[in-house]
Amino acid sequence: MNNAVPIPKHHLIGHRGAAGLRPENTLCSFSYAAELGLNWIEFDVHLTKDNHWIVIHDDTLDRTTNGHGPVTEHTADELIELDAGLWFNPPYPEQTLPTLMDTLHLAAELNLFCNVEIKGADSNPQLNAQQFATFVRKNNDVVDNQILVSSFNLEVLVELRKLLPDLPLAYIKDEFTEDMITLAQQHNFASINCLAKRFTTTYMQAAQRANIPVFLYTVNDMTTANYWIDKGVTGLFTDRPDLLLPA
Ligand code: G3P
Ligand code: MG
Repeated sequence: MNNAVPIPKHHLIGHRGAAGLRPENTLCSFSYAAELGLNWIEFDVHLTKDNHWIVIHDDTLDRTTNGHGPVTEHTADELIELDAGLWFNPPYPEQTLPTLMDTLHLAAELNLFCNVEIKGADSNPQLNAQQFATFVRKNNDVVDNQILVSSFNLEVLVELRKLLPDLPLAYIKDEFTEDMITLAQQHNFASINCLAKRFTTTYMQAAQRANIPVFLYTVNDMTTANYWIDKGVTGLFTDRPDLLLPA
């Protein structure tokens, strides 16, 4: 594994798959992103009660599944039984919460590079880092050069860097701050990922001076996408690849 990440085709990364078009973070959302022509997807993972990785954005089950309560209070076996597509408009039948492993297998089949975002780590960053490192070590054949791991939680990234010196890591923060650059250099992060709405060209120039790739979320209109591509962004997370892909 090396710390460099490929540049996404058209600079576009399918946010939670194709979250504006399919139920987010489901296999059908990931497949649709690939069908539309993307070569990168982003998805969010939580550690389950029994230390498995499950793909879901929220800390609780209520918004996107027919389950209730915190994700971390359920085992993987319980979680994979839940419906994850009927909440969407229109509803998508037969969608469940994918495991990280299911998702990486599908991504390998579809030639998708993955940004795996670790969520829910705030209560125990050490455990999350250890469990993620264990997953990577055990499944190196599946993970192999296929993932960029990101988090809003700096501690989980710093711990992961110690455990897996070559794993590409990205630090996420809604609002850019200068210390993101220092931290990226110090911990050899592959990129910094920020909220597009609060990002500025001054921030972009600071990142470029330090040679740190920038990814911005979430961009669903062509004008904003073209603006940041012109400024040298490496990747843009989008819920609506259909609106941004060249005709
Ligand atoms: O990693 C980019 C973006 O996914 C971060 O925000 O809340 O959509 O996971 P969120
Ligand atoms: Mg995310």
